[in-house]
Order: sequence, then C-alpha cells, then structure tokens
Amino acid sequence: MRNETTVRIPPEEILYQRELSKQFSLLKNRPRTYFIVTYGCQMNAHDSEKLAGMLEEMGMTLAPAKEQADFVLHNTCCIRDNAERKALGNVTWLKEIKKERPDLLIGVCGCMVQEPGMAEKILRQYPFVDVAFGTGNIHRLPELLSKAVESRRRVVAVPDEQSTLIEGLPIQRESSFQAYVTIMYGCNNFCSYCIVPYVRGRERSRAADDIVREVEGLQEKGVKEIMLLGQNVNSYGNDMENGISFPKLLHRLGQTGIPRIRFMTSHPKDLSDALIEEMAVNPALCHHLHLPVQSGSNRILTAMNRRYTREQYLEKVKKIRAAVPDIGLTTDLIVAFPGETEEDFLDTMALAREVCYDSAFTFIYSPRIGTKAADLPGRIDPAIASERIEKLIALQDEMTQKNFATLIGARETVLVTGHAKRDERQLTGKCSRNISVNFEGNPDNIGKILPIKITAASKTTLRGEILEGE
Ligand code: 5AD
Ligand code: SF4
Repeated sequence: MRNETTVRIPPEEILYQRELSKQFSLLKNRPRTYFIVTYGCQMNAHDSEKLAGMLEEMGMTLAPAKEQADFVLHNTCCIRDNAERKALGNVTWLKEIKKERPDLLIGVCGCMVQEPGMAEKILRQYPFVDVAFGTGNIHRLPELLSKAVESRRRVVAVPDEQSTLIEGLPIQRESSFQAYVTIMYGCNNFCSYCIVPYVRGRERSRAADDIVREVEGLQEKGVKEIMLLGQNVNSYGNDMENGISFPKLLHRLGQTGIPRIRFMTSHPKDLSDALIEEMAVNPALCHHLHLPVQSGSNRILTAMNRRYTREQYLEKVKKIRAAVPDIGLTTDLIVAFPGETEEDFLDTMALAREVCYDSAFTFIYSPRIGTKAADLPGRIDPAIASERIEKLIALQDEMTQKNFATLIGARETVLVTGHAKRDERQLTGKCSRNISVNFEGNPDNIGKILPIKITAASKTTLRGEILEGE
C-alpha cells in the first residue's frame, strides 16, 4: 500500500531553494564560515552532510573549529535524555561566545526540535538561538537562514507533520570512498520506549530508481562502500504501491558494481528468509548484521511492543548463521526497562551469552515524554540499573574476546579508512564483519580494499598484516 500521507517535495521547490542559496552567497553581510555539531545516529550524520552541502552552495566554508565559525548549527538527537541534555548544554555554552561576537549565528535542527513543545521552549528559553527547524524541512535551510540574516530576527520553522520525502539536495560527503545512502525515512513500529516514530514520522521509502541512480553515481566516483540507512530497512518498499522489497533492492544495488554494501537497522520481526538468502549469495553484501534484540525476556519484549519472542529471535539468528557462517552479529540492548526484574535481566544476559555478539550497544532505559513506556509503573532504581549495565558490558567484553580469538589466523578483506587512533604509524579499517583491524602499511592504501591476515586481538580491535602478492 502506498503511504497516502507521503509528501514528495516537488523538484521545483528544491530548485527554488538552491536559487536562494546562490542569492545568499552574494549578500554582503552573510556568514562566511560554518560548523555543524552532529549528535546521534548515522541518519543524523548523513543529514549533516546534506546541511553542509546546502551551506557550501550558499558560499560558506567549513570553519576549523566551532569557536571560529560565523554560523554554528546543532543537528540534535533526542533518543535518550542525555543526548538531549548534551545538545542543549552545548547550545547554551555558545551564548557566552555570542556575547563577545554578536554576529555569531546559532542554529538548532534535527530530532529534538521536532519534539512536541520544543519549538516553544526554544523561543522562550533560548533567545540566543537564531534559527531552528525540524527534520522534515531541512531543505528549507537556504530560505530560513536568508530570513534570519536579512531580518536579524529569529526564525523557527517546525512542520507538524513528518511526511516529507526530499530528493535532490546537494551533499557534502565526509569521505571519498564511503558513503551513506538513505533508503527510507521514519518508522511505523512504535516500540513503547522509543521517540523516533514521533519525531521522524511514518515510514517513507525512496523510489528504487532514485536509490540505484545515486549508488551508480557513487560507484563511478570511486566510492568503495555504501551504508544504506533506514530506521527499519527490512520494511523498505512496504509503503509503496509498486515498491520492490529490501532483498530485491539489495540485488539491484549489487549489480551496480559497488564493491561493498552495508545496511542498518534491521528489525528482527521483519528479517525475511529472502534477505538471508540474498546475504548468502550477493558478494557485495558485507557479512555483518546489526539486529537489535533490546531484551532477552519475553515479558519485557511484549511490554516493549517488539512483536517477536526470544525464541523467534534465536531462530532467526540460527538461520542467518546457517546461511552465512562467518556473519558478524551486533545488537542494541536496553536494561532497566520499567518493571524489569532480576530474572528478566538474567534472561537478557543469557541471550547475549548464547548469541555471542561481536559487539553490543548497551543502554539504560531513559523515559521519553509522549511514549507509552514513560507512563508504565515499576521504574528501576538507578543504582540497580548501573549495576545491570556494568554486568552486561563485562559479559559482552568477554563475548567479543571469544569471537576475536576465532579470527586469529583468518584472511579478511579490509577497507582502509585512515590512520589508527592510538598509533598514527598504523593504518586502520573495517573487515567485512565490521570489526576494526589495525596493521602496518603505506598511507597510499587509504581508500583501498586489502587482504589482511589477522595476527592478534586487543580489547576492541584486531591486528593484522597485509597479505602481499595476492
Ligand atoms: N531508552 C534507552 N534506549 C533507547 N533506545 C531507543 N529509545 C531508548 C530509550 N528511551 C535504544 C534502542 C535502539 C537504539 C537506537 O537506542 O536500543 O535500538
Ligand atoms: Fe524506535 Fe522501534 Fe522504530 Fe527502532 S523500530 S526506531 S527502536 S520505534
């Protein structure tokens, strides 16, 4: 079924905004440099690349640091309370810089701005913010910033409805060999703890032809790896009348010649046999699957509205491992969901041990206003929550080491992304199953895919050496 509410922003509107960008670049009193502070997930990171693309078209260049920029834009996240507090704290900190440099323009955009009541709060409590807009109207940045600069008045524009599909924005990509490609926006799942469906709206899939064209363009430019983005990529196409399914999209993208394809995030309930089959046969697909389980307790999974049981999840894990034996599995886990008993928590521990993930993102439940879980009784004492998350992290560290040990001696292919963090003389990259691998080599190799023999493992990375002459 086509999602009736999807609003495709007409190409003329995008062209109009790009025309405004050109006009803006001719203004005398316009800001010259920008800096974007990005919080949250890859979707936000990719939105920031689009925002940067627009700002560059407006004639601005990236400042070396935010303290030096004429326009500082905060692309915010609201998934957990601490993400929100961090963003608001940093915005407030800029107030001091603005006292010394009154010309400094401060912007706030992203998911937090889309929360009910937030626009009013910004107007009331953050008078030094010059421009604020939501995720559904990022394409209007040229218009909104022009207004703010020309009128010297504050501009706040947050759409009520989150139903837009935006094509044709300029993108200033961070890397020349890795690229994010959004395939769908929004989420229909309403997991009871999660604010995403409220701030990002219902699922809207991009047309397959638009996605394929974008990936072909990236491949021609020499991009080696794409990361397909969506809150729930497994339901790609479900909102369209003649849409193709996610496995079929992957199949088409495999034919573009792009060497590596990754994707996230997969909801376990929608992980189909067809996807598993595609992962087994499509050589471009990396052998990594991020499959958030959230909890190992059926009682909690029901309360979370996840719509699968522990047993169904484990069955899917079994199937994918049978089809793709060297698959690297990763997950998200929440502890201290309202009403979580010690027994529920032990179920999560047991599941994490059983699946033996390569890594896991672990979170303490954070109540989000407006979500179902925020009204549930049985809040967990913070001290118990901390204890639980620590135990889970310790267990996961143990599982990571167990998996790393099995990889010593293996041959992996690694996309070299840069220098290692802790040792500038070493190079680093990700193997197919998405584990960092450090090794010695010539910096000319950055951006190449190399065969590497794994020789050792540390806490979070593997070490290896280039297999010469392959
Ligand atoms: N509290 C804690 N963790 C959350 N997540 C989403 N909402 C919340 C919340 N309210 C976690 C889930 C999700 C990941 C992106 O963030 O684990 O998979
Ligand atoms: Fe949030 Fe659930 Fe949608 Fe993921 S699937 S974005 S956790 S509601």
